[in-house]
Amino acid sequence: MGLKILLLNGPNLNLLGVREASVYGSETLEGITKDLQAYAERRDVELRTFQSNSEGALVEAIHQARTWANGIIFNAGAYTHYSIALRDAIAGVGLPVVEVHISNVHAREEFRHKSVLAPVCLGVIAGFGRWSYFLGLDALLRHLIKS
Ligand code: DQA
Repeated sequence: MGLKILLLNGPNLNLLGVREASVYGSETLEGITKDLQAYAERRDVELRTFQSNSEGALVEAIHQARTWANGIIFNAGAYTHYSIALRDAIAGVGLPVVEVHISNVHAREEFRHKSVLAPVCLGVIAGFGRWSYFLGLDALLRHLIKS
């Protein structure tokens, strides 16, 4: 199969394991990423990862992905709720993107209920902790393999 996927993480996700553990759990991003990479490898998928706290760097990573990736798994953190620049980048490259969230954003503050990215994404997975990333990869592969 040989698919290539970008795992993209936005602001504050580098603090996973430290940050608000009651909401996001005690596991680090490195821990989740390592397991997800092994999970991807077993499916003959190359998973490249990038995390940034900066909106511009995330826009650049999405643009770059156009040259090599078949799709993107994206946890945009708080940018999810207001970044038109990220939305335009996703729409601009035309790659399938699965939006993922560790927490169930709909069970939280009202400002987290709205995603400006969701309308240009394939779909959204939220609320399954670390498994949101695995489910996101599964969803993307289902889409890519059937298409
Ligand atoms: C998050 C949810 C966002 O509302 C929040 O700003 C985050 C993490 C999640 O994974 O649950 O930074 O994307």
